Amino acid sequence: MQAHLLMGQQNNHQGNWSSGFAFILVSVGSAIGLGNLWKFPYITYENGGGEFVLIYLLAIVFIALPVMIAAIVLGKRTKLNIVGSYRKLSNNNRWWSGVGVMAILAATLILSFYSVISGWALKYFFEGMQGTLVLLTKESSGAYFQDFLSDGSAQILYHSIAMLVTGLIVAMGTKGIETAIKCMLPVLFAALIILMFASTHQYGSEQTFNFLFDFDQNQISINSAIEAVGHAFFTLSIGIGILVIYGSYLPDNVKILPSSIMVALADTAIAFIACFTMYPIIFGADMEVSNSSGILFTTLPVHLNELPFGRWLSPFLFILISFAAITSMISILEVIVSCVSEELNLPRKKTTVVMVLLVYFMGFLSALGNGANHFLTNLSFMDKADFIASNLFLPLGGISIACFVGFYLSNKEKAAVLQVSENSLTFKVWNVLIKYFAPIFIFTMMIYFF
Ligand code: TRP
Repeated sequence: MQAHLLMGQQNNHQGNWSSGFAFILVSVGSAIGLGNLWKFPYITYENGGGEFVLIYLLAIVFIALPVMIAAIVLGKRTKLNIVGSYRKLSNNNRWWSGVGVMAILAATLILSFYSVISGWALKYFFEGMQGTLVLLTKESSGAYFQDFLSDGSAQILYHSIAMLVTGLIVAMGTKGIETAIKCMLPVLFAALIILMFASTHQYGSEQTFNFLFDFDQNQISINSAIEAVGHAFFTLSIGIGILVIYGSYLPDNVKILPSSIMVALADTAIAFIACFTMYPIIFGADMEVSNSSGILFTTLPVHLNELPFGRWLSPFLFILISFAAITSMISILEVIVSCVSEELNLPRKKTTVVMVLLVYFMGFLSALGNGANHFLTNLSFMDKADFIASNLFLPLGGISIACFVGFYLSNKEKAAVLQVSENSLTFKVWNVLIKYFAPIFIFTMMIYFF
């Protein structure tokens, strides 16, 4: 069916997921990351829960999920990376290829600082295994974290480990990625469930439940609403073409709709479980939540120590975060490597080495910018990169994919890839959501934001 698309084009597109279930797992691995475990609990807390949660859920269902489906449709249809997909279906339109290249640049930017934060989690995991974290107290944990941040060689060391592991996995292609995710996800789920049990057992879950699901307790501001919508994109990994490339590896018989819904459900469930793990401790221990990275790296380890089996809870927390971060890093690196190797017709392994080195050195800007180097600390590259990527590149990337699929593919083609009838209500609703609702909504939101 796709033969005519590929004609006359060098195509070294490699890889296939072994099944639809494998696709769900790798996409869940990509979706679950620091966004679920660190950012969601933190911003939800800051925004007072309740209505913020409601808006986040609506944004997932009516904006993020439809756009996510559009990205998978694009990849499955073209069997190409994001740049190749835009180029092919727009008949080599330069502007669209440029939009694709922008996504790859965003991916490079995000990966460079994401790797540094993943390194922090790895360091705390190693320390936790050795039992060092037990010694942390309320008074000392902040300084301990800050000392680590300002230690340039330690920052680079753990950033190197994170990049190396990710690079080795991605170099092995879809087989390597699948195997790695199948090993890491069960550990991640087990660790999270154990932590949730430990925390709710000690402090109860009623207060958390009311905080999250009492929908009419507060008046939410427009800025909070925007934050909720932006996070819906971030958490489902939308906007830089991850789901385009993951969708391109889908076996033909796999249905996109149920798989995407599964991914969104799993991702949302994990975000809530993360809240049910952290909030009981926060409420129960009467903690001050003042600083975002502080929750994970300074306050939680101290309070975990006080729970039964506390000695082992910190290693669980940090293996959970390390694995969640690495499974997300894999997906970001895969976008970059697959695109560069396909578009420039280079071998995958060599491309991986070159791109890992590039991202690795770019990561120094973040690794040395938290106290190690005076100039870089003043520059605060990490914050700027995060801000630009999350608030500009991701929403723009998301709108582009939605409009492109909405208008460049005929209804017949879209319905065929989705394996649903063109006249079904589901199809019609989805089509209106990606063609009009999502782009107009996101665009208005961005104008308001800037
Ligand atoms: N979704 C991941 C998280 O919640 C982060 C992530 C992975 C991501 N790939 C992405 C964010 C692509 C934006 C774009 O942490």
